[in-house]
Amino acid sequence: MNTLLKATDIHKSYKMGKVKLDVLKGVDFQIHKGEFVAIVGASGCGKSTLLHIFGALDLPDRGYVEFENQRLNSFRWSKLDRFRNKTVGFVFQFYHLLDELSVLENVMVPAMASVGVPGWFRLKPRAKKKAMSLLERFGLQDRLRHKPYELSGGERQRVAIARALINEPPLLLADEPTGNLDSRTGNGILEALKELNAEGQTIVMVTHDERIAAQVTRIIRLADGKAKEVMLNQ
Ligand SMILES: Nc1ncnc2c1ncn2[C@@H]1O[C@H](COP(=O)(O)OP(=O)(O)OP(=O)(O)O)[C@@H](O)[C@H]1O
Ligand SMILES: [Mg+2]
Repeated sequence: MNTLLKATDIHKSYKMGKVKLDVLKGVDFQIHKGEFVAIVGASGCGKSTLLHIFGALDLPDRGYVEFENQRLNSFRWSKLDRFRNKTVGFVFQFYHLLDELSVLENVMVPAMASVGVPGWFRLKPRAKKKAMSLLERFGLQDRLRHKPYELSGGERQRVAIARALINEPPLLLADEPTGNLDSRTGNGILEALKELNAEGQTIVMVTHDERIAAQVTRIIRLADGKAKEVMLNQ
């Protein structure tokens, strides 16, 4: 199988005053192209920390992450920025949408960030079209001019997913995308993610919900600072 992302011996600790908290203690992990992987584990076990390390939003203390056989820690800043902007799409648990911007503008932000000001004049019509088609796909075509605070939680999460997809990233990282939603709304989000995966989108999703995890292609459980594969037929 084609390996997209590989994590080797990832360690991460946090220092709180004099206390050192060892969160990740040697995580090995591989994500293959086309997979839909769920990361499960108790609250505080390091799921978000690990996802941030995959997306180069945080650095491991030890170990390394490779994307298509290239180590992220060998990237220059500009290449790392490009990786964060174009290679991974990140969906945050609490949406992190910009309330000053409309739904449509929020979705276009990563496209704007990917080019300079002159480039944006050229790219904008195409980005706008793409943003509108993504929002339509997620049933938000009547919400384009709304502000995020005028939307429901499920709608906000769908905007966040559209934003994560605008630059067509090979890898979508989603941190508890259904965590704050009632089960029906959460199922709608999961269905949208499953549909994307069926079209070839590689997805890594953190979830607390074992029922949701059971619907993906592979489950990884994080416990005691290590990652273990969960056998689906157990
Ligand atoms: N910036 C930080 N400084 C200090 N400690 C941190 C920091 N970020 C996370 N931690 C601690 O590291 C541990 C792992 O945090 P993390 O957010 O990765 O857990 P999680 O598995 O995502 O939990 P949850 O399911 O509740 O979201 C927690 O005990 C947390 O308190
Ligand atoms: Mg978390």
